[in-house]
Amino acid sequence: MQYREIYEASMSDPESFWMGVADGIDWDKRPSRALNAENAPLYEWFTDGMVNTCWNAVDRHVAAGNGDRTAIIYDSPITGAKSKITYADLQSRVASLAGALVARGITKGDRVLIYMSMVPEALVAMLATARIGAIHSVVFGGFAANELAVRLDDATPKAVIATSCGIEPGRVIAYKPLLDEAIDLANHKPETCIILQREQAIATLVPGRDLDWHAAQANVTPTECVSVEGNHPAYILYTSGTTGQPKGVVRPTAGHLVALNWTMKNIYDVDPGEVFWAASDVGWVVGHSYICYAPLIHGNTTIVFEGKPVGTPDAGTFWRVIEEHDVKVLFTAPTAFRAIKREDPKGEFVKKYDLTGLKTLFLAGERADPDTIHWAEDTLKVPVIDHWWQTETGYAIASNPIGIEKMPIKIGSPSVAMPGYDVQILDEGGHAVSPGELGAIAVKLPLPPGTLPTLWKAKDRFIKSYLTQFPGYYETGDAGYVDGDGYLYIMARTDDVINVAGHRLSTGAMEEVLASHPDVAECAVIGVTDALKGQLPMGFLCTNSGTTRSDADIVADCVKLMRDKIGPVAAFKLATIVPRLPKTRSGKILRGTMVKIADNEPFKMPATIDDPIILDEVRDALRVLGYADKNNSNSP
Ligand code: COA
Ligand code: AMP
Repeated sequence: MQYREIYEASMSDPESFWMGVADGIDWDKRPSRALNAENAPLYEWFTDGMVNTCWNAVDRHVAAGNGDRTAIIYDSPITGAKSKITYADLQSRVASLAGALVARGITKGDRVLIYMSMVPEALVAMLATARIGAIHSVVFGGFAANELAVRLDDATPKAVIATSCGIEPGRVIAYKPLLDEAIDLANHKPETCIILQREQAIATLVPGRDLDWHAAQANVTPTECVSVEGNHPAYILYTSGTTGQPKGVVRPTAGHLVALNWTMKNIYDVDPGEVFWAASDVGWVVGHSYICYAPLIHGNTTIVFEGKPVGTPDAGTFWRVIEEHDVKVLFTAPTAFRAIKREDPKGEFVKKYDLTGLKTLFLAGERADPDTIHWAEDTLKVPVIDHWWQTETGYAIASNPIGIEKMPIKIGSPSVAMPGYDVQILDEGGHAVSPGELGAIAVKLPLPPGTLPTLWKAKDRFIKSYLTQFPGYYETGDAGYVDGDGYLYIMARTDDVINVAGHRLSTGAMEEVLASHPDVAECAVIGVTDALKGQLPMGFLCTNSGTTRSDADIVADCVKLMRDKIGPVAAFKLATIVPRLPKTRSGKILRGTMVKIADNEPFKMPATIDDPIILDEVRDALRVLGYADKNNSNSP
C-alpha cells in the first residue's frame, strides 16, 4: 500500500487501522477495542489491554531466540569507553535493577526520577522502572537543582536513580551535589536514591537514603515483567510551557508501544537487527522514543553516544560512529549539523570514513534550514528527511514515510501528516484557512495512540493549554501552512516557547528568574536568531531606581542566576539594561517587535504602541550586543 491509502485508512476506520497495527505488540491481554472516547474530549487508546513495555522492548526478543543480538552500543568519545550489550544481557541487567527497586518497596504506579548522563545504565533504569509498572520521569542533566526540585515536587517519586556525574567537554559536572541540593529545596523527599558511581566524580552517599547501584542489586531476586493496563502511564516527561512550572507530559503505555513500533519500519525504514542512532540525550523526548524505546521495541540496535558533534574529538566523530557501528539511520537536530558544517564546511572529515551503510538522515527538534539540508545532502549523499513532532506526541506528526513510500522531498517542509493525525491550519476564529495561508496548526481530536492523554496531575491545565482555544482540536503551539499537495510548513511558535539548539525553553520561565533579582524592576526575554543554535535567549532588564550596582554587575548576576536556577541548558548569556520596555497602550510587552528588530526583519510599527521612541532605545541596546545592525528595521 502507498502512503495515501494508509493515511486514508487511518482516518476512515481508525478502529481497524490501529487494532491491526497493535498486532506488532505482545499483549498479556489483547484489548477489545482501540479508541476509548467515553471521556471525550479526553481520549485513550487500548484501555482494556494488558501489556508490559519492558517485555516488548527486551524479553520478547530473547524469547524469540534473538538474545545474542546487540541491543545497545555504548560509545563515549568523551571518556574513551565503548561496549556492547546483547538483548540477553540487557534482560538480566534490567531484571536485576527492577529487583532492587522492588526490594526498596517500589511498585506499580510509583514514580522513579532518573537523573543520569549518557550511559547505558540510563536505559537500564528506564526499562527496569517500566518492568515493574512504575512510572519514570527522566530529567536532563543540564538542568539546575532548582528545576530538579520542581520536578521532584510534581512527580513525587519514591526513588531517584542518578549517576554521580555527567561529563561535558573539558569539565565534569557533579550531579550528586545538584541532586542533594534539589532534595533539600523540594518539599517532597524520595525514600531511596540509587547512585551509579562514575569514576570521574565519586559521590558521597547519604546513609539510610542513598545506595550504590551495585550494592543495591546485591542478593536481590531478579523481577519478572508486571502487566499493566493499556492506559497506565509509562512515563512523565516535563517540557517547557509558558510559565516557570513545566508541563508533565504523560505517556500512555499501550499506545506508546503500538505507535513507536509502527514508526520504525514505516517512517525510518529499518528492519530488526539493523543499527539505528538517535544522537540526542535521554533527557529529551527524542532520547526517550528513539534512543531507548522504539529501537528496542522493534528489535534494533540502538546507540548511546556520550559526546558532541564537534570537539569530541573533532567534526568527524559522527562519521566515525556511523562507520564503526554500521549505522543505517542517523537522527539528530539540525543544530548538530550546523555545528559540524561550521568546523568542516568542505566536509573533509566525511571523506575519511566509509559511510556506505548509512541510508538516511532524519532531522527534527527545530526548523531545518535549507542551507543545512543542502550541505548534509551534498556531503553525505543520502536523503535528508525533516520531520516534525513534539514532546506531547512522542513521535512524528508529519514526516516523509520512506518505509512506505519515499514521497518527493520539498526543502523547508517536514512533508505530510502521519496516520491518525488530521492536521488543520486554523485562523484565530478556528476556521480552516486555504492552502498557502498561514495559521495556527491544530490536530483534530482524537490524537492517535501514544500521544499525551493529559498532563500529570493537571487535567485542567491540559484542557486549558491544548483543547480550549480551538474546541475539538489539539493546539500544537506551532504556526504554519499547508501547500496544495498537503505538505506542511512549520514557521514559528505561537507562544513564549523558544528553541535553543533543539532544546525547548520557556521565555516566561526565564522572565520569572530575572524578575527575582532584587535590582530588576521589569524584564522581558526574547529568542533572537542564532546561526548555530537556531535561537538564543536575550534578556532586557529595567532596573529599580536608586540601585547602587553597575549595569555590568546586574547583567553578570542575571546570567549567573539563570544558570543557577534553570541550568546551563538555558544558554542564557545575552542581557542588557534598557530604560523602558516597549509596550502596547494596554501594557503588553511587544516581544515580537523586539525580535524583528534584533533579527533585522521588517516590521510594521504597532498601532497600539505607547511610545515609538522606546523601540529606538531597544535598537541601541541591541547594537551594543552586536544585533540590529541594519537600518531597515522600521520599514513595513
Ligand atoms: N549535563 C550538564 N550540562 C550540560 C549537559 C548535561 N547533560 N548538556 C549540556 N550541558 C551544558 C553544556 O556544557 C553547555 O554549558 P556551557 O554554557 O558552560 O558551555 C550548556 O549546557 C549548553 O549546552 P548545549 O546546548 O549542548 O550547547 P553546546 O555549546 O555545548 O553544544 C551543540 C552545541 C549544537 C553541539 C549541541 O547542542 C548539540 O549537539 N545539539 C544537537 C543534538 C541534541 O542534543 N538535540 C536535542 C534534541 S534532538
Ligand atoms: P520538543 O517538544 O522539545 O520536541 O519541541 C517541539 C517543538 O520543536 C515543536 O512544537 C516545534 O516548534 C519545534 N520543532 C520540532 N520539530 C520541528 C521541525 N521539523 N520543524 C520545525 N520545528 C520543529
